[in-house]
Amino acid sequence: MAAQDKYCFERDKKESERLDVQHRVLVRTSGDTLIHPSIPVEDIRSVADIATGTGIWLRDLKKSLDTPQVDRYYHGFDISSEQFPENPGAIQYSVHDLTVPFPQEHWGRYDLVHVRLLVAALEESDYKAAIANISRILKPGGHLQWEEIDAVTYLTKGYPVLSELYRCFDYGLTAEGKCFQASAKVYEETRAAGFVGVERLCYDSHKIPDLHHDVEERLTAIIRTLYAFLLLRSKQVDTAEVASQEAENLAEEHRRQCAEGNSPPLKLMRVVGQKPLYPSSL
Ligand SMILES: C[S@@+](CC[C@H](N)C(=O)[O-])C[C@H]1O[C@@H](n2cnc3c(N)ncnc32)[C@H](O)[C@@H]1O
Repeated sequence: MAAQDKYCFERDKKESERLDVQHRVLVRTSGDTLIHPSIPVEDIRSVADIATGTGIWLRDLKKSLDTPQVDRYYHGFDISSEQFPENPGAIQYSVHDLTVPFPQEHWGRYDLVHVRLLVAALEESDYKAAIANISRILKPGGHLQWEEIDAVTYLTKGYPVLSELYRCFDYGLTAEGKCFQASAKVYEETRAAGFVGVERLCYDSHKIPDLHHDVEERLTAIIRTLYAFLLLRSKQVDTAEVASQEAENLAEEHRRQCAEGNSPPLKLMRVVGQKPLYPSSL
């Protein structure tokens, strides 16, 4: 684990599998848009995926963009290499902490920088530096797409299981100086850094047909892993046994609510913005 690593969840094989399954649900929730339609794919030659985890988003993007006629460069960064793929193929991976400036070889290199799910890793005060570091590695006119599942999902009214998750996550993240309103923070800092065309979008899984079951399964996995883990880590319970019993009780309640037709939505937040072509405005 790196010295500055503030990420509060595990990185074992089970967690890697959970991230890969979750990736499919997130892509479907966004209407099968790995990249927001406002970003011109035909201009993309180099892509950085920060907090890449298992690299699943980057591998999928490479599959969707690659053509024999065009050479493209793909680089995944993460504060830990624990979940990097064993066979990286043509994708580069490096260990790097987003809150620290990137090595100079990456400055001005990328047409697109993607970030996903850092809500449990960044302190509120880290976002400004994170955006500045991203800006430095983007080409002038390059695009940022940052995605989060944050307080917006868990504050959706009418779902008692989401309310309990909100209570637990908000308590646990706030205790560590983190920001549960991650996408709002990214939006604010991206605009403050002078990016143009900044938008904060919300994709609601309830708008996609046939996604209920996968979203329900994802939430069960969240309850059994992140919820149980955070209950214990933030000392809301005393032992791992109690945490896992509480998680099982909540998972049971979740199953009961879903069986009664009260299946909670997933809301994927996405912030997009463009680094200006001319440096004077940044
Ligand atoms: C929830 S996982 C998301 C992985 C991937 N983006 C995805 O959506 O599947 C969060 C990742 O952020 C990484 N991470 C945490 N803090 C970081 C930091 N300061 N800089 C770069 N990566 C970080 C963790 O190691 C972990 O792989």
